[in-house]
Amino acid sequence: MITTTPDLSAPVLTLDGPSGVGKGTTALLLAEHLAWQVLDSGAIYRLLAYAAKAQHIRLDDEAALAALIPKLSVRFVPLFDQHTVAVYWAGEDISAQVRSRNTGEWASQVAVWPQVRHALLAWQRQFQQQPGLIADGRDMGTMVFPCAKVKIFLTAQPEERAKRRYKQLKEKGIDANMPAILQELNLRDARDQNRQVAPLLPAEDALVIDTSNLSVSDVVSVILAHKKNKRI
Ligand code: DC
Repeated sequence: MITTTPDLSAPVLTLDGPSGVGKGTTALLLAEHLAWQVLDSGAIYRLLAYAAKAQHIRLDDEAALAALIPKLSVRFVPLFDQHTVAVYWAGEDISAQVRSRNTGEWASQVAVWPQVRHALLAWQRQFQQQPGLIADGRDMGTMVFPCAKVKIFLTAQPEERAKRRYKQLKEKGIDANMPAILQELNLRDARDQNRQVAPLLPAEDALVIDTSNLSVSDVVSVILAHKKNKRI
């Protein structure tokens, strides 16, 4: 867990939305373009779930999961050329394990617990540093950075998101099955949208962008234009 004090004067751009909508790639492109910091909050939930499994902590043991958080020694390294953030746990690169489909499903399970979400708040807020922060997740605009100057919520039809995920996996040479991917996405959407604490929801002051018919560079352009309009 990092232990720096947030710089509350640093601008924050929040980027929320469901699984597979392209937040990760968009966040890395924005951070690279602006030379800002990037927070991949999904990677934190994924790391917690992965570490819990490794230590035989049950994913429904809320108190044990929350107690594990301060003990996690982790480092996140943005890889701009690969549009992703590498995850090092106790010095070991565990990015592949953390990004696996299983870990994504486990992350969604640990994310339902109020004590877990509460314990992760301060950690996530420490990423607010100069010259600015792109914060990617589900509740960045509603809970973690409610005072952010620019809030974006990306959407796309589940079928379109499943297609993107399928293409991504195929490109990496990983075997993929379209109906299974769609089923997993729908399950994760339902859990992320219906949990009691910080459900997946656009902030009232968020710009909602339907990316179904937009390329990633189109989405980045729309966001940069919106940021400029806000004079940030
Ligand atoms: O964005 P992702 O697929 O890496 O996120 C994995 C899971 O973590 C997601 O299904 C829900 C949870 N999550 C969350 O609840 N809040 C966040 N800010 C980020 C992720």
